[in-house]
Amino acid sequence: MIDGMSEPTIALVTGANKGIGYEIAAGLGALGWRIGVGARDEQRRETAVEKLRAAGIDAFGVPLDVTDDESVSAAAELIADHAGGLDVLVNNAAITGGSPQIPTTLASATVRAVVETNVIGVIRVTNAMLPMLRASASPRIVNMSSSVGSLALQTTPDIDMGPVPTAYLASKTFLNAVTIQYVKELSDTNILINSGCPGFTATDLNGFRGVRTPQQGAAIAIHLATLPDDGPTGGFFDDAGTVPW
Ligand SMILES: NC(=O)c1ccc[n+]([C@@H]2O[C@H](COP(=O)([O-])OP(=O)(O)OC[C@H]3O[C@@H](n4cnc5c(N)ncnc54)[C@H](OP(=O)(O)O)[C@@H]3O)[C@@H](O)[C@H]2O)c1
Repeated sequence: MIDGMSEPTIALVTGANKGIGYEIAAGLGALGWRIGVGARDEQRRETAVEKLRAAGIDAFGVPLDVTDDESVSAAAELIADHAGGLDVLVNNAAITGGSPQIPTTLASATVRAVVETNVIGVIRVTNAMLPMLRASASPRIVNMSSSVGSLALQTTPDIDMGPVPTAYLASKTFLNAVTIQYVKELSDTNILINSGCPGFTATDLNGFRGVRTPQQGAAIAIHLATLPDDGPTGGFFDDAGTVPW
């Protein structure tokens, strides 16, 4: 619950059925918030909702494929009907599109699929949820990005990001640019909009090669989702502080 609000804070986490998204849902739910578990697969969604409820969390399932206009519209309607509004949106769902992805052999279909989910999906979901967020007393938008999308870090000579899939990396750069534009357009509202990087986290996304736990990866999103009203907006953060764009 955000300070001063008597009703539980309502959050939607996209891609909340597993990995970092699940832990974001669990972490925000543990604060007494009501959590919409956005997930495209019915079975995976219901399993996650049941697990969260078993842990005492007020979770409800939100069928959501971020690549599908109708699915996203229906999700907004479901949240309005079921929860009566939305305070916090965590755009977490993403795909890598598989690897290896190097520029000279990159299939255009891969680029399209990755951008459709990681960028257009965020725009689609954000715009569908925006009327509810605008009506909230303390709205927050958290976009799960990645430091691999940082142009500053990509061009720092001493930094080796390893074999990061090109379309995935560029989709996060694209997402960062889109996030900045949302911040600019919505600067006269009370919506705090920030990007977060979870760090290299062991999930399906990287074949569990990451070195952080999903719980550790979720911490930055939980922090940005629970910022006070005078908290930052338009920033890019990880657990260590500011990430350069
Ligand atoms: N893991 C890392 O090291 C790392 C590092 C930097 C940033 N990130 C970012 O952190 C976020 C979470 O990643 P993760 O590591 O937790 O990945 P993950 O375990 O692969 O989870 C991704 C989630 O996104 C969902 N998703 C994918 N496409 C979707 C769609 N079209 N509609 C709805 N949901 C969809 C997946 O659902 P399904 O189960 O149905 O596929 C899953 O719930 C992502 O934005 C990722 O880019 C991760």
